Amino acid sequence: MATDINELLRINSGAFYLFDIQVLKERIAFLRKSLPEGTALCYAVKANPWIIGEIGETVERLEICSSGEEVICRSLGVENQKMVISGVYKAPALLEQLTADESFDGIITIESERQYKELCRLSEKHQKTLRLLLRLTNGSQFGLDESVLDGIVKNRHQHPLLQIVGVQYFSGTQKTSIKKYARELSYLDSYLLSLRERFDFTAEELEYGTGFPVSYFAGEHFDEQELLKEFSALLSGLQCGAAIVLEIGRSIAASCGKYYTHIVDIKENKGQHYALTDGGLHHIAYYGQYMAMKQPCLSVVGKTEIEPDKSWTVCGALCTMNDILVKQVQLPAVAVGDVLCFEKAGAYCMTEGISLLLSRDLPAVYILKEDGALYCVRPPFETSTINQPNYERMY
Ligand SMILES: Cc1ncc(COP(=O)(O)O)c(C=O)c1O
Repeated sequence: MATDINELLRINSGAFYLFDIQVLKERIAFLRKSLPEGTALCYAVKANPWIIGEIGETVERLEICSSGEEVICRSLGVENQKMVISGVYKAPALLEQLTADESFDGIITIESERQYKELCRLSEKHQKTLRLLLRLTNGSQFGLDESVLDGIVKNRHQHPLLQIVGVQYFSGTQKTSIKKYARELSYLDSYLLSLRERFDFTAEELEYGTGFPVSYFAGEHFDEQELLKEFSALLSGLQCGAAIVLEIGRSIAASCGKYYTHIVDIKENKGQHYALTDGGLHHIAYYGQYMAMKQPCLSVVGKTEIEPDKSWTVCGALCTMNDILVKQVQLPAVAVGDVLCFEKAGAYCMTEGISLLLSRDLPAVYILKEDGALYCVRPPFETSTINQPNYERMY
């Protein structure tokens, strides 16, 4: 479904995001087609919570890493059974709420021995059966050390209300090396087999955060089809027999998002052409984009012919010299009022910026559904309401 971008620009004087659900669903269909049959998908909500209402039917699970994400998912009607309550710190109130809720039949991940003990206590208090995934560490602050995970599995019969369904593993994002996938999957396979041998424990599931990459910048390319083909072969070769759930954020969501920002001023300082925008780093942050060292894919709405022998530095509206979106980029002849469109802005870009600096507004968010219906899911948001002191006398 083509967006009538002119209509959107007419109703919107400021910067905004647009998430295209047809692109999102085609992306999910592409991933499914490229992976072995029966591979389940778990969407990492942190990548983009704005598309949760649309993604529900197309993935088996949603990985929820905070009480805030849980509230968003519930408000959008996500069923309990789809929820994987994850995250390194789980607020005690959330754990209490979930264990007290008779209808909760989702999964909770275990990141530490303390979390496990807390769930032992809560499950007994509420006489509630809970399904757990034990997160195996990759050597960072996340997850359980093998020795701790071993101990939990070994002594699992002491806590019959806690059903360990398997293991969760994530080692990082933007992973392009098939050798790294091969190493990780081989390690996980052997580890799950050793749990069976040593403790007579068969993991029903392996929930694996693949960290599939997205190429964001000019000159950056990898052969995604080939990577997915080789990755699928690795999955098919696993011996442990666990059902595979792939936990993915970036690779699912990046392509469905675009960010639009207006050029509001133009100047030449010491021979450098600057285009100033009404957006900036408080609106958009690309992974791996430090000090505008790389060039994200961008275009000028309605203009295609590149102006030769002229390059632009595109800056945002923050009073910091760091607020550079792109350096030395060739563009069509631009003028104040033109709109720049940044591509592949559907994952993390919107939430990883320095949103509160200068108390500027955050951009509006639009969702374009497959039937062509356009929804505003957030009007421009005034951050002055967050940064404004609100005096309440305490004593
Ligand atoms: C545990 C876990 N799973 C999945 C993801 C999603 O990663 P990506 O967006 O690279 O797919 C993350 C991202 O931080 C994560 O921490």
